[in-house]
Amino acid sequence: MSEKTPFYITTPIYYPSGNPHIGHCYSTIACDVVARMKRMQGYDVMFLTGTDEHGQKIEKKAQELGTTPKAYVDEIVDNFQKLWATLGITYDRFVRTTDDYHIKTVQNIFEKLYKDGWIYKSEYKGKYCTPCESFWTESQLVDGKCPDCGRVVTDASEEAYFFKLSHFAPKLKELLLDEERNFLNPKSRVNEMIHNFIDPGLQDLCVSRTSFKWGIPVTFDDKHIVYVWIDALTNYISALGYMNDTYNDYEKFWPADMHVMAKEIVRFHSLIWPSILMALGEPLPKKVYGHGWITFGEGGGKMSKSKGNVVDPFVLSERYGVDSLRYHLLREMVFGSDCPYSNEQMFNRYNSDLANDLGNLVSRTVAMAQKYFGETLPLQKEFNESDEELLKLTDELPSFVDDAFTTLRFSEGLERIFRVIARANKYIDENEPWILAKDEAKKPRLAAVLYNLLDTVRRCTILLTPVMPHICPEIFEQIGAGEDVTTWEASKTRHLLPAQVAVKKGRVLFPRIDIEKELAELEALSAPDRELPEEPLKDVTSFDNFAALDLRAVKVLSCERVPKSDKLLKFIVDDGFGERQVLSGIAKYYEPEQLVGKTLAMIVNLAPRKMMGLESNGMIMSVRDGDRFRVVEFGDDIKAGADIS
Ligand code: MSP
Repeated sequence: MSEKTPFYITTPIYYPSGNPHIGHCYSTIACDVVARMKRMQGYDVMFLTGTDEHGQKIEKKAQELGTTPKAYVDEIVDNFQKLWATLGITYDRFVRTTDDYHIKTVQNIFEKLYKDGWIYKSEYKGKYCTPCESFWTESQLVDGKCPDCGRVVTDASEEAYFFKLSHFAPKLKELLLDEERNFLNPKSRVNEMIHNFIDPGLQDLCVSRTSFKWGIPVTFDDKHIVYVWIDALTNYISALGYMNDTYNDYEKFWPADMHVMAKEIVRFHSLIWPSILMALGEPLPKKVYGHGWITFGEGGGKMSKSKGNVVDPFVLSERYGVDSLRYHLLREMVFGSDCPYSNEQMFNRYNSDLANDLGNLVSRTVAMAQKYFGETLPLQKEFNESDEELLKLTDELPSFVDDAFTTLRFSEGLERIFRVIARANKYIDENEPWILAKDEAKKPRLAAVLYNLLDTVRRCTILLTPVMPHICPEIFEQIGAGEDVTTWEASKTRHLLPAQVAVKKGRVLFPRIDIEKELAELEALSAPDRELPEEPLKDVTSFDNFAALDLRAVKVLSCERVPKSDKLLKFIVDDGFGERQVLSGIAKYYEPEQLVGKTLAMIVNLAPRKMMGLESNGMIMSVRDGDRFRVVEFGDDIKAGADIS
């Protein structure tokens, strides 16, 4: 028995810095379609996806929420996995960069690259924001200021390890320009890489940091953690067991057949990743595909939830079917280009392709077989020359679709399938079965026409299965196609349905969408939450009442929990005139040390009152944020005692 050919495909590993959105769905669905098709074709498929969980952004978010980075990512990773289950994503392995085996691989690789002289110690220079403890590059700054907090940044440097990326420039150029190898697609990205990065001169890459902690420690220098790309890109081999004992699939699946991603990270996959692999002496992936972005709202942008356009993939797949969403994204996106998303476009596409063309073809054909032959077609088949056009068009489909899907040109592949479906609908009109049915002598021809239609549906549905894996089996059932005639191979051969095929009417597969109504309903769903704030508005008060309050910025000098209270924090603050003690009921939302050094808003002239035996002189102001409270704070350029009016 011959061994199955291995096929290895990967999505990027996503940052769990926020919940998954429809943009993440595109790469993942694209890979799922290729993986499903390759499995149908008899390959031994490894489909890898996962999450990229380290980094300063996640460390900070967790800190803001008063939780640990791991607890924070666990919840979001869970949402990614739930979404993939909802969308029918058949990944074989899910890698998390916090998994022990991945950490082991990264540490081993880092050590090896260091020992072999590809990594060296030097100094990282950048713009530093002291309060945020973050380095930024010149291009990341917004108006020359910290992009996170808007404060002034200063030139600073820290000790860091660097990878000798510059060394690989000539080899990378050769790789990218090798026509036969065709490493990076689409071709336009090759020029981008060469003109924007290689030709201006590749810089060595900073691969460690000391300014934050949430990352994989460098084994031989533990104040450093491995910074971003060595950690992230390595997932593609750690998940196969490279330099770890958890898996043993590296020999079988590496090099990957294709890495899929959107354009913004093509650079890392086509320059940095091959260089790391060359330095390790390992083979390079066969192909890198960089698709465009799904954009939202006017002017596009990678992902911004535009008002009035619910794009929550959970909502869309629940309301219109998972397969409709999968179909729409793949049909609409032209490989390499950006593609605006709109619900209206999705509904139009659904109504025209799925409800009208495919849905109607199946339901009309099945209904006619039932009406004219009571479900089972008779044996005799009178095929003739006029059938050839439809049959030939269908014959050409499997290899076209295979090539289109394997190179991520889904819209072309699907367009071609739907051209055949449209041709089949026309074939019904040309042959007028309702006229044939009136004449007993024409019944054999009628049977042949219906058989051709059912068989065309069979062949098209096979090719649609990777894209619409949930609904295609229902179509097979309705047209009486058993497992043996629904394999990928079977799509290549005409007339494989049993001679006396029996149809079975089922539900309407794609009920038409009332576009106006649905848009209005989605609009209502996406309207900002109009829940009333917890505290109703108070009665109007005089200006004098307001003016009687003394509101000031105060600096927190110390902060600690009040013993035996799970609510209260005790602060000593500088109010600009001296120190005072104040209590605040926010212990559930902050660790005391998070607040020390902050400049907060406070009402300083409230009459003192006692809580848990301690005196509180004033009130620290905080704002409700869902079911927690956040302190109102200022930048530390605001002086203690500054009045708020
Ligand atoms: N963690 C890195 C990738 C490391 S891979 C070794 C990362 N993560 S990410 O969460 O930002 O994901 C980026 C990827 O998500 C894109 O490359 C693309 O695959 C997908 N998309 C996210 N938003 C998208 C759109 N709006 N449109 C299409 N794909 C998008 O970068």
